[in-house]
Amino acid sequence: MYSDKLMEHFRNPRNVGVIENADGVGKVGNPVCGDIMELTIKVDDGVITDARFRTFGCGAAIATSSMVTELVKGKTIAEALKLSNKAVAEALGGLPPIKMHCSVLAEQALKSAIEDYLGKTGQVPVAGEAKAVSVEGAEES
Ligand code: FES
Repeated sequence: MYSDKLMEHFRNPRNVGVIENADGVGKVGNPVCGDIMELTIKVDDGVITDARFRTFGCGAAIATSSMVTELVKGKTIAEALKLSNKAVAEALGGLPPIKMHCSVLAEQALKSAIEDYLGKTGQVPVAGEAKAVSVEGAEES
């Protein structure tokens, strides 16, 4: 049912944990299965330099989270936004159709962490790319 690669990431997940003072934090859950995924990223000059995850969920969720952290390191924000759940599943040698939603959770966790980062730095994603927006006139409350 599962590829050797997926089983390997499940048994030895990469980048488990939380980044202290992360630049972006994403936390998502699947209401159907109840699984939860948290992804933290460090961004330096528009490039993701580190990514870590904590997942309370099934084996496929753990393996896809692990793979996502591996795939995004060294990518720009714009590149990381284009990373699809399909690409993550393919990098793991495929997922059974019934488990594809687990990879969706990994994609959503990444997007959520990036959105958090963009929000904190006054940027918004536009058509898959990060674009700076003017915050002139915005008052600190
Ligand atoms: Fe919920 Fe896999 S069964 S993420």
